[in-house]
Amino acid sequence: MKVTVVGAGNVGATVANVLAAKNVCSEIVLLDIVEGFAEGKAMDIMQTAHMLNFDTKVKGATSPVDAPDYSATADSDVIVITSGIPRKPGMTREELIGVNAKIVKGVVDQSLKHSPNAIFIIISNPMDAMTYLTLKDSKLPRNRVIGQGGMLDSSRFRYYITEALNKAGFSATETDVDGMVIGGHSDTTMVPLVSLATYRGIPIKELLNDDQIKEAVEATKVGGATLTKLLKTSAWYAPGAAAAAMVEAIALDSKKLMPCCVALEGEYGESDLCIGVPVVLGKNGMEKIVEYKLPADEKAKFDESVKAARNTNSKLGDALK
Ligand code: LAC
Repeated sequence: MKVTVVGAGNVGATVANVLAAKNVCSEIVLLDIVEGFAEGKAMDIMQTAHMLNFDTKVKGATSPVDAPDYSATADSDVIVITSGIPRKPGMTREELIGVNAKIVKGVVDQSLKHSPNAIFIIISNPMDAMTYLTLKDSKLPRNRVIGQGGMLDSSRFRYYITEALNKAGFSATETDVDGMVIGGHSDTTMVPLVSLATYRGIPIKELLNDDQIKEAVEATKVGGATLTKLLKTSAWYAPGAAAAAMVEAIALDSKKLMPCCVALEGEYGESDLCIGVPVVLGKNGMEKIVEYKLPADEKAKFDESVKAARNTNSKLGDALK
């Protein structure tokens, strides 16, 4: 399995780092527009190989903006796109659409020339719209275009549920807690599924009151913005680890169920849209969408999220041509 990670910034380097440590790929190519930067990151990661006990070869390559060179990425099985500008404190992900649409489109076109059979994982924001753009631009079948958002948001949901449980007197850890977030990767409209959230199998509704649950849900929704405020740029450890988990599921053909952004063709009553839903990941990428009958209140929130995602897609304008 050869994986390319486009963009050697914080998120891209973390994907390469976490994925290398999993030891499930033969080769990871880290590509960046800044001369020498990806090479440096790759070298640094390779020098952890002995300590972290992996055999994956991580290589860096430069692809200058004015003379793109994706030859090092040739014949990749998976291409992870992290390119684009991250948000600054106070910005929404949606505000990045103009700049990032152009960048992502260029990356998709170049990547496809060298790796026509690759599965694409999109991290660049606004992620749901960038996934839709990749699908339309590449004309690939939908199983090969997958956005990363749901795994990250679900992990944040578990974190905040754990915090709420511990404030309420339990002694929980994140691995004791189950929780899934679907819908768009958006501060306002993502949908943490309270109905499915559990602590060691017990529904959190039995253990926490409405206010405690609401606090965890709201903190989850603005989880990215909270970190952007603290870090003065967007987060990278959890976004990178989330994408690495998705690549691992594909590399191992594990058929793990993960919330991911994919194109709907009638599922959940929607089509011509990419949004977060539970999917099964395996060697073919998105192998199955799991349709789950949402309770009425969560379905209403999902519908709102769909509306917002469609609105963001409408701003893709010329990028879609
Ligand atoms: C976040 C960005 C990466 O949620 O979208 O942290």
